[in-house]
Amino acid sequence: MNKDFKISKAFFIPIAIVLVAFSLSSCKKNLSSDSLYTPTAADVTSTATLADLEAGRNLFISKCGACHSLYSPDSYSAASWKSIVPNMASRTNLTAAQITQVTKYVTRGK
Ligand code: HEC
Repeated sequence: MNKDFKISKAFFIPIAIVLVAFSLSSCKKNLSSDSLYTPTAADVTSTATLADLEAGRNLFISKCGACHSLYSPDSYSAASWKSIVPNMASRTNLTAAQITQVTKYVTRGK
């Protein structure tokens, strides 16, 4: 009886660790999906610096996934984003400068 208990515990603990690790990794994937490009020097434009794009990405991830999952920058045209972001940003505490950075990130500096 006592021995059986020890065996089931020995199996249960590793399984629990695997389940927790799996749920944490899938949660992380949700927040920064593969479609969320990481800006590099190649993404810099005449109007968006690398610092703008990186700040925009961080703000997008931290502020824009609170109510729904993150939309891919590629899901909307630059023109659409330019009306969506200010509309959505009014539901956050982003400053005007931060809204500009998020817009630069999702429109890839357009
Ligand atoms: C307070 C909650 C909330 C926050 C924060 C939020 N959204 Fe939304 N978002 C919504 C809701 C609710 C909808 C559903 C449609 C609507 O109400 O316009 C939506 C819809 C959208 C859509 C789909 C619009 C369409 O026309 O198909 C996009 C894209 C979007 N949000 C982007 C963003 C971005 C970018 C941010 C960060 C600046 C953001 N959201 C922050 C609540 C939020």
